[in-house]
Parts: sequence; structure tokens; C-alpha cells
Amino acid sequence: MAKTVVIGGTGLIGSKVVAKLSADGHEAVAAAPGTGVNTITGEGLAEALTGADVVVDVSNSPSFEAEAVLEFFTTSTGNLLAAEREAGVRHHVALTIVGTNRPQDIPYFAAKSAQEQLVRDSGIPYSLVHATQFFEFLGGIADISTEGDTVRLPGGLVQPMAAEDVAAAVARTAEGSPVGDVEVAGPERFGLDEFVRRGLRFRGDARTVVRDDDAFYYGAPIDEKTLIPVEGAQISETRLEDWLPLNPPPA
Ligand SMILES: NC(=O)c1ccc[n+]([C@@H]2O[C@H](COP(=O)([O-])OP(=O)(O)OC[C@H]3O[C@@H](n4cnc5c(N)ncnc54)[C@H](OP(=O)(O)O)[C@@H]3O)[C@@H](O)[C@H]2O)c1
Repeated sequence: MAKTVVIGGTGLIGSKVVAKLSADGHEAVAAAPGTGVNTITGEGLAEALTGADVVVDVSNSPSFEAEAVLEFFTTSTGNLLAAEREAGVRHHVALTIVGTNRPQDIPYFAAKSAQEQLVRDSGIPYSLVHATQFFEFLGGIADISTEGDTVRLPGGLVQPMAAEDVAAAVARTAEGSPVGDVEVAGPERFGLDEFVRRGLRFRGDARTVVRDDDAFYYGAPIDEKTLIPVEGAQISETRLEDWLPLNPPPA
């Protein structure tokens, strides 16, 4: 049984990771501002890490604005890695995104890349789990790409996956030895426009999704292969058509 501290352990992915590690018999501690642990201010961090073997970082920035998100991931990760060195943590696992290491100018990806580099340079054995887009963010992607009744999205390919499968991959990685960078992805590939179109259609959303290859994804253009995984990525099982009926949009 390992003591594993899950930073962001109250969030979408984090709460599922804590549940999976606990079910597997580990001591999994959810660490987040809501539980008295803040990686920006340092509050509660040293105490939480006392006796920890593994740290999983699935935290997220409260703001996605370019400078704020870069500031969040560099400050949070820097404080966390310093505290891990003090505590003698033997495996750092962080969740990041497929595509951060492909040519693109997405500000959020730049912040995740900076986080990854701090982890690689830390001297602490690490695993960086690069996941594709979560099915759960389908509605959010539609909303930020909507003008009037039209959703404009590029046809660049995505291979999205369920948050449950992301959490399973993160928990599995945390239970194993450090592996460096790995990629996980869903079982099907769509254009980004088609992914969102299928979701909105299933939900009876009246908006029209139009393919527009000049439209931005989170603030920047993407090309056909920016967001798809490398050959040899771990492929999860849940398909979009099986997930949709079980996951109505949040009220
Ligand atoms: N969206 C995608 O498609 C995608 C794809 C691949 C990877 N990812 C990555 O997945 C990760 C998890 O995302 P998510 O959607 O599960 O996030 P989320 O639901 O927004 O949860 C974020 C968590 O971070 C915690 N947190 C915020 N500020 C903190 C701080 N200063 N100190 C400690 N914890 C803090 C939050 O705690 P409070 O609630 O107490 O504030 C919460 O537990 C992110 O790193 C993201 O980059 C996302």
C-alpha cells in the first residue's frame, strides 16, 4: 500500500483518481484548497506530503487567460516539486495533454509545456500522462466557439476520451513505476467539428456546427494532426455513443 497525495483530488479527474486508488487499497489523500492544501501559497503542502510515496498532480488553473494559466502551472509545480524533494517522494505523476509537444500556439498548451519541463528537470522520477480531450468538455468547447446559433470549429482531428478512462490511466500509472511521457486516447477519431456536432445533436441542442478550418481552438489555430496521439498510445474503451446517453449535460 502506497501513500499517494492527489493534488487537485477534489476535481473532475482527481476525485475519480482518489476513488480508484482507494479501491485498490492505497492510502489516497485528496489535496486541494478545499481540503486545506494550496500549491500556490504553500498552505498545508509540507504536512500533506509527509510520508508520501507518490504524488499525482491533476490540479487546474482557476483562470485560462494566457498569463494567469502560465503563472499557475509554473508556480504550483515549482512549489510542489520543492516540497516533494523535502519529503523524499519517489514518483511524480502529472496529467497533461496530447499535442503540447506538437507545433501550435495554444496559450493553455504553453503553460502545460512549462509544467512538463519543470517535472522533467526536477530530478524526481516522473510519469507525464498526456491525455486527449475529455468527452466532458464537449459542451464547453461548443460554448466558447458559438456566435449566435452557430458553432464554428476546425476539422482538425481529435481522439477524445471519457474522464473515467483518463482517471483510470492516471491511477494505473501512479500504481506503477515511473515511465516518463506516455499518451492515452479514446477509441475513435473525429474532426473536432464532428465530435461537437454529434454531442449537440444527441442532446437536442439547436445550434448548427459549421466546419471552419480558420476557427481557433482555445485561442489558436490547429492543423489536422495537432491533437491526435502518437502511434502506440494507450487506447481506452468508452465510445462517445455509449457515453452520451449516460451523461446528460450539467443543469
Ligand atoms: N480538458 C481536457 O480536455 C484536458 C485534456 C488533458 C488533460 N487535461 C488536464 O487535466 C487536469 C485536471 O483537469 P480537471 O478538469 O479534472 O480539473 P478541475 O475539475 O477543474 O479540478 C481542478 C482541481 O485543482 C484544484 N486546485 C485549484 N487550485 C489549486 C491550488 N492552488 N492548489 C491545489 N489544488 C488546486 C481544485 O481544487 P478546488 O476545487 O478546491 O479549487 C480542483 O481539485 C488539468 O491539469 C488539465 O490540464 C485536460
